[in-house]
This record gives sequence, C-alpha cells and structure tokens, in this order.
Amino acid sequence: MKLWGGRFEKNTDKSVDDFNSSIRFDSRMYKQDILGSIAHVRMLGYQGIIDPEDSNLIQNTLLDILKDIEDGKVEFEPDAEDIHMNIEKILISRIGDAGRKLHTGRSRNDQVVLDFRMYVKDEICNITQMICTLSETLLDLSESHLDTIMPGYTHLQRAQPVTLAHHMMAYFQMFARDLDRLAGCYKRTDIMPLGSGALAGTTYPLDRYMVAKELGFSQITENSMDGVSDRDFAIELASCLSIIMMHLSRFSAELILWSSGEFDFIEMDDAYSTGSSIMPQKKNPDVAELVRGKTGRVYGSLIALLTVMKGLPLAYNKDMQEDKEAVFDAIDTVKMCLPVFTGMLKTIRFKKENMYKAAGGGFTNATDMADYLVKKGMPFRTAHEVIGKMVLYCTHNKKTLEELTPAELKSFSEIIGEDVYEYISLEACVSGRKVPGGPAREAVKSSIEKGRALIKSFSVNMSSKQELL
Ligand code: ARG
Repeated sequence: MKLWGGRFEKNTDKSVDDFNSSIRFDSRMYKQDILGSIAHVRMLGYQGIIDPEDSNLIQNTLLDILKDIEDGKVEFEPDAEDIHMNIEKILISRIGDAGRKLHTGRSRNDQVVLDFRMYVKDEICNITQMICTLSETLLDLSESHLDTIMPGYTHLQRAQPVTLAHHMMAYFQMFARDLDRLAGCYKRTDIMPLGSGALAGTTYPLDRYMVAKELGFSQITENSMDGVSDRDFAIELASCLSIIMMHLSRFSAELILWSSGEFDFIEMDDAYSTGSSIMPQKKNPDVAELVRGKTGRVYGSLIALLTVMKGLPLAYNKDMQEDKEAVFDAIDTVKMCLPVFTGMLKTIRFKKENMYKAAGGGFTNATDMADYLVKKGMPFRTAHEVIGKMVLYCTHNKKTLEELTPAELKSFSEIIGEDVYEYISLEACVSGRKVPGGPAREAVKSSIEKGRALIKSFSVNMSSKQELL
C-alpha cells in the first residue's frame, strides 16, 4: 500500500504509477534526503515532539540505510514514487511504528525543496571549483604569453594588435563574473524551508533554526507558501549555467576558428582531437565543437524551468517535479564540459609566428599612425582621413604602412618624420597601451595579479562552505 493510501479504495493504475514516479531521477538526492530527515527527527526528539528514544532509533537506522545505499545494497521501488517515500518506506520496514513518526510536522513539499536546495548548494561548490581551475589555467597561459602579439578583431576583421595574454584575460573576466554569479545564487539557495509543511506551516513547536544550523543553512524561509513553491534558486542556477556555457561556447568557436588552416594560430593536442573516418588528413577540434553544441541543451533546461513555473498558482503543484531533471541535466553537462575544456586549453600549441604575422597584416597599426600625426599637431579627424588615403595607396601598391619609404610618407603629410617607423611597430602599438585594462605588458600583468587573488578568494570561500555540507 502507498504511504498515503488511507483515503483510497483502489490502487493507482500502473500507467499512473510509472508516470508519477520520479525515483529514476531523484534517487541521486538520497544523501540530502537522509541528512535532512536526520536533522528533522533530531529536532523532533529535542523538542519533545516525539520520544527521544524513537528519535535516536530513527537517526541510527537512517544512517544504516545511507550506508546500505552507498554500498549498493538498496533497490529503490518505482511504485514508491520518489526518493522521499522510498527512504521512509525502507525505514518503516526496518523499525516499524517508530519509523512512522519521522514525517511528523513535515510534508514532502518542504522536504523535496530542502533536498533540492542542499543538492544545488553542493553542486554550486563543485562547479565553482571547476571554474577556478579553468581560470587558473587562463592566468598561467596569460602569464606566459604577455609578449605574444596577435591581431585583435572587430567584425572578424583585423583591428589592432593585442597580445595572447590580453585575449585570454578577456575570457578570464567572463569566468570571474560567472563565479560571482554562482556565489550570489548560492546565497539565495542557502535558505532552509523545513517547517513550511505542505504550505501552511505546522502546529508543532518546531525549532527551525536548529535544523538550519545542523544542515549548514544560513537562513530559514520567511513564508511557508513561498517556502514550498519557490524555485527561483533552480532557475537562477540554470541561468548561471547557461551563461557559463555561452562563455565556453564563444571560446570554443574562437578556438575552432584558430585551428583552421585559414587562421592557423593553434594546434590542438592529439589527445584532444579526433580524426575522420574517410579523410585521412583530418584532425578535428571535436571537444570545442561539442562544448559549443551542448550549450543548447543547458539553455533548454533554463527555458524548461521558466516555462514550468510561469503559470503555477501558489503553492506546491506537481508540475514542479519537472524541475529536477532540467537542473540535473544542466549540472551534469556543465560538469562534463568544464574539465575537458580546461584539459584541451592546457595542451594547445600556440603558433606565435603565425599570430605575429597576422598582426602585421590588415593595417592593424593604422590607428597608431593616426595618433602619431595627432601627436605632431594634426586634429584627429584630419589624421584619420590622411591615414585612410595612405591605406588605400598601400592596398593598391601591396605594401604595409611600415614599408612605405620616407618620401612616400611625406607625400601624404609633411609632418611625418622617420621616427614614425618606431612609433608604428607592433611592439610599440601594444606597449603604448598602458591604460588600465589595456594590452600593454604592465597592465595585463597587474590584472593577472588581481585575478589570482580573486580566484583564491572564491576557491577558499567555496571550500569552507562545502565543509559544512
Ligand atoms: N516527487 C515530488 C517532487 O519532486 C515530491 C513532492 C511531492 N508532493 C506532493 N504533494 N505530491 O516534487
């Protein structure tokens, strides 16, 4: 019989059992469910709501069940619907009536969201650590490429020279924001809902703060109806994960481009590439492509969650059972992508000469040439026009700006002296941009230092949180 079967005269149809059952995906919350129940039942005993001896017996039996699950000795029953009912059923089968007291002052509605919040908190910590590792890889890479000049692009047209370090540190900033977003999401997930009951709280004198403290929550929910029906934290996590994937996907797209014969800026390590079943010459950037491809399914989870929630009247509705698969899939996907992406990035061979050569084409120093004229007293807009004509001349004569002779240069403006060659070298273009946030060595070095401190603080903060779990 179902644990809730009292008011029913018939069994549920087999198809409804299958349809309703969530055990195939929520069994992964077994640990959260057991720890949550232990904290609840300890509090019940402490408050004298149930006999302290029963409370102890339940706690010990739950620990045995946890061990048995971890040893692979427990088979969950699809008919018992979900992880919460399965564990309660096992408990009752082992200790009978004492086990029937576990659910006093609690509903599955507050129980499921407790478990889910605990699960999400733990995974936020795991994902944070993975992003920290990726970010450290970016910092190391940047450190060793402070002077590796490459073209920076706008509209995918060569624009101005930058360094590989500067380019990598742009991605670093994105992941640093992701870490910050995850920390914010953690804060809003770290709220303990037990005591909300089915929706209207409970008449038992529960000590909600005791349960929160024991489970490592920093706050309790303020409103029982919101407590059981808020899934903002899940949506927020899916949104954080979507943005992480968007960043990984942009990065992937760029690496795919760079590894093409047309760019030829990088070579992926054999260990992170695959071949073609027909074309013997092929070496494909599959890892980057798959990361880019998997971004879609994480966005899908976000949209699924937003759509599940958008029409739900207060408070709990069974629709909300759909929240878990979406979040689990998004978490699993991101956790699969991050380490393999980091491994791929670590083993890339950067073809510095090709990058340098590419930076030398496309008139990437044209802005600096205009700035040279401004320094000599010409208004910028006039200088822009003069250099525009010079570029046109160079294009017709297949020359770069620095290949123009002093006489050719003078024909565009009398004020151009021979010191211009030095001024428009790629090295000078980069090293002159010392403005904070710019690509010059000193500027990038200082943002690498700041970045190291930031990552350290995120990593320490999250591991201290994980110890509480
Ligand atoms: N398996 C359910 C879920 O994931 C648990 C809560 C069920 N509550 C209920 N009143 N049916 O949402």
